Amino acid sequence: MIETGLRDKVVIVTGGAAGIGKATAQRFAQEGCRVASWDVKEAPPEAGGIFQKVDTSNAAAVDTAVREVKERWGAIHVLVNNAGILRDSQLVKFKEGTLAGTMSEEQFDSVISVNLKGVFLCARAVVPHMIAGGGGVILNASSVVGLYGNFGQTNYVAAKAGLIGMTRVWARELGKHHIRVNAVAPGFIATDMVKSMPDKILQSMKEHTPLGRMGQPEDIANAYLWLASDAASFVSGTVLSVDGGVVTGT
Ligand code: NAI
Repeated sequence: MIETGLRDKVVIVTGGAAGIGKATAQRFAQEGCRVASWDVKEAPPEAGGIFQKVDTSNAAAVDTAVREVKERWGAIHVLVNNAGILRDSQLVKFKEGTLAGTMSEEQFDSVISVNLKGVFLCARAVVPHMIAGGGGVILNASSVVGLYGNFGQTNYVAAKAGLIGMTRVWARELGKHHIRVNAVAPGFIATDMVKSMPDKILQSMKEHTPLGRMGQPEDIANAYLWLASDAASFVSGTVLSVDGGVVTGT
């Protein structure tokens, strides 16, 4: 049994209403944490926690929500930057020799805004409170595609690769304040985001995964829990792949 040191810690999970975020909020709540779950869509709070309606790409909304958490619980120990969206499209698409479409600026900007800028806004708002409290942990949701690219995902891959860069910068800048910063790169996880993809793609995801299955949201929640725990007290600036071996299978 690993002693996590997480009991009573205050944890913010963004995108906590569904999928990996929901499983993560539940996992930290099980561990005795006080969890603030943020999302653009309503969700019941986890046991011992609260739900806040927050668009993480909106600086004012993020600042207000952080203030509320601080006022309620007096501290913020862990931030899990999990919220993310997909707006897939090829850069340019040609059909029978003619241009049939491109990725729109709206598709590019919306994904960068939530998946990259939102993480910056949340970290910027939370870090002063972590420093005042003597330390903390920031965990960022990257992706295997942030490591090796993916067809049709210019915007998403730019954000997920950019996140890895921010993770390393913050690990360097914030280590002296006892703040650890790490990214997790999930493989193919069975959530609504992924289940909405065509069957052909889902089948190919399984075939490309050496462990032969899609991951479950709990697989990622457990990785976040470990990285936030005292068991990972010397781990910072890293990217933990939780992907059933898919990178080596590609
Ligand atoms: P999901 O779509 O099931 O859940 C994402 C949640 O984020 C939703 O509840 C959504 O409402 C919320 N959200 C979206 N925009 C938001 C905003 N601006 N502010 C606050 N909340 C917002 O997604 P899933 O699959 O659980 O993914 C979670 C994270 O893990 C994402 O960052 C995703 O890119 C990443 N990821 C997922 C993988 C997968 O296979 N499912 C693989 C690699 C990374």
